[in-house]
Amino acid sequence: MTERVTPRRHGSYGIDAPYAPAFIAVMTVVVLVMAIISGHWQTFVPITVLLAVLGFYLHSTLRGKFVVWADLLDQLHLRGDERILDMGCGRGAVLLMVAQRLTTGRAAGVDLWRSVDQSGNSLEATRRNAIAEGVADRVELHTGDMTALPFEDNSFDVVVSSLAIHNINGSAGREKAITEAVRVLRPGGRLMIADIQSTRQHEAQLAKLGMSEVARRRLGWRFWWGGPWGATRLVTATKSECRN
Ligand SMILES: C[S@@+](CC[C@H](N)C(=O)[O-])C[C@H]1O[C@@H](n2cnc3c(N)ncnc32)[C@H](O)[C@@H]1O
Repeated sequence: MTERVTPRRHGSYGIDAPYAPAFIAVMTVVVLVMAIISGHWQTFVPITVLLAVLGFYLHSTLRGKFVVWADLLDQLHLRGDERILDMGCGRGAVLLMVAQRLTTGRAAGVDLWRSVDQSGNSLEATRRNAIAEGVADRVELHTGDMTALPFEDNSFDVVVSSLAIHNINGSAGREKAITEAVRVLRPGGRLMIADIQSTRQHEAQLAKLGMSEVARRRLGWRFWWGGPWGATRLVTATKSECRN
């Protein structure tokens, strides 16, 4: 099977949760020093594991998530005139790929720009990326909280979110974000959430909120952050046409 060619990125998108790979790198050095001092070859086993985890993490954040989202967005078969929201857009990894698939439509990103969640995170960095990718005319950036979205009911054709909802502390806050996503979606609109935690709860909540075609699946090795809890899952749903 030939791999899909993802268009070259012109922006700079930072590292997700930058303290995590930094911690793994420090651990690797510490264990390496211990291995050299002790001279026991067995100590090189954890080093190999740590390096593998670090490799998967860096691949996911620097390349894997772009390849996976490019496929997911293609599967939406957009017309180009949609209004699309990215909740927790960060520096625009997904938001700007969405914008590249629009003609007369608009891609809106909302974020609190927390640099603990993504290195170099700021509205200005995302705006610079939008210019670098040639889509600034199709992108709106909003500073706001996913748990209280600054948008009217039924105002988006598609809502996406990538690796962002798990950053909200507490299940009540995460539930609020899901409820907000459904509120701003128009009847018939589609929702796509990729995340590493609480996806089973999102799935159950969406069904409870009356969403149809609710589904959840793994996104494969390209979107795996290392370790037993590192798999990213996708939750998809459609807002029923009969609700308002
Ligand atoms: C790991 S980054 C992912 C960014 C982007 N979606 C991507 O895939 O590159 C998580 C993002 O969620 C944002 N975030 C965290 N809590 C938020 C909240 N309550 N409301 C809006 N954005 C939030 C952070 O500022 C950060 O930009």
